[in-house]
Amino acid sequence: MPSQHSAAALPLATDTPLAWMDRLHHKVEQWMADPRLYRLALSNPFTRWFAQRRTRQIFDLMSGFVYSQVLLSCVRLKLFAQLQNGPATLEELASRCHMPEAALQRLLLSAVSLKLLEHRSRQRFGLGPLGTPIAAHEGIRAMIEHNSLLYRDLTEPSAFLQDAWGGQMAAYWPYAHAATPEQAKQAQAEHVSRYSELMAASQTFVLDEVLNTFPFDQYRCVLDVGAGKGRFVAELAQREKQLHCKLFDLPQVLALAQQNHAALGLQGTLEYHPGSFFEDALPQGADLVTLIRVAHDHPDDKLRTLFQKIYDALPVGGTLLLAEPMAQEPLEAQAGDAYFHFYLLAMGAGRLRTPTELGRMLNDTGFVHVELLPNAMPIHTRLLVARKPGG
Ligand SMILES: C[S@@+](CC[C@H](N)C(=O)[O-])C[C@H]1O[C@@H](n2cnc3c(N)ncnc32)[C@H](O)[C@@H]1O
Repeated sequence: MPSQHSAAALPLATDTPLAWMDRLHHKVEQWMADPRLYRLALSNPFTRWFAQRRTRQIFDLMSGFVYSQVLLSCVRLKLFAQLQNGPATLEELASRCHMPEAALQRLLLSAVSLKLLEHRSRQRFGLGPLGTPIAAHEGIRAMIEHNSLLYRDLTEPSAFLQDAWGGQMAAYWPYAHAATPEQAKQAQAEHVSRYSELMAASQTFVLDEVLNTFPFDQYRCVLDVGAGKGRFVAELAQREKQLHCKLFDLPQVLALAQQNHAALGLQGTLEYHPGSFFEDALPQGADLVTLIRVAHDHPDDKLRTLFQKIYDALPVGGTLLLAEPMAQEPLEAQAGDAYFHFYLLAMGAGRLRTPTELGRMLNDTGFVHVELLPNAMPIHTRLLVARKPGG
């Protein structure tokens, strides 16, 4: 059984703190916690803004669970879809949702406060600025529903941290903590189809980032490793006619990809290679390997094996494109990381890595010229490119 914890080396910035920096931090902490400073800050219009902002941030942290439950209720009651057709009154919505008006009113007002909905003329409710994209994208709604599994697993957070695989999220992802490659291959068909469906639905924004950032026209043959239902390859094959495309994934998943491609009339032009990338060799012949939302599912030792297999499959001068959400480097900490750290722990033995950590692992494998490509929306995915030397 793989361990649920593979600890990362701590970032350099906290490895070597200077003693004077520690003393400075300590002084600032004492100062910030002083009630006299708080009162002073509120009495001055310039510092009041800062104090209000801090208080708001702490309040939002405390209420985050309520916010996500409001969001989930709106999705489950299909409020976004209903309001896409035009604004509606409380009475109309209560009748459509089969819910008492007084109860629904609380939800609607909460959703307005979160900018999911907004007040419209004649006491009606319409989509708010944050509700509009949720109404438009099925993938966002699918992830909101899926996250309810994570939040159920997290009700006792300290217990969860020590034993994260007793919950529903781990059951959702059989390969991510399978004891043996055979177990990963034998996951029940219904589980495989469920996670593959979610991945395909949630891939839209990732695909936009990858397809609009990387120069695929410079390649001849691509191998997508961990290809899922093959949505990325389908888009790529339709866009870049010169590319020959191969897919590698577990046999049950590739069967779904084949069905998907057959429905799109693409199947004849694509090559399918079922197998496990921990046990089986990857097919040769591609000058570009893509690895999209795969590396973060696996612990370091397994990821090194996978990088080695990719390296062996590429010709000299070949390229690896790795795309997935990545941790911020030490000095750029962002709230989004907390979600991925916990999600990946609940899911299996993988973890969120910084571009530097991934780059180091790629260099250890033999890859060179590892480069982080700047892209428009790093919260969806970041892109790392590495080359096999020579050629
Ligand atoms: C998180 S999904 C990502 C799928 C797709 N690339 C995407 O972005 O939507 C990870 C994929 O890796 C595949 N996978 C996991 N373990 C594998 C293994 N040992 N061999 C081959 N594929 C594997 C899964 O079946 C799944 O399709």
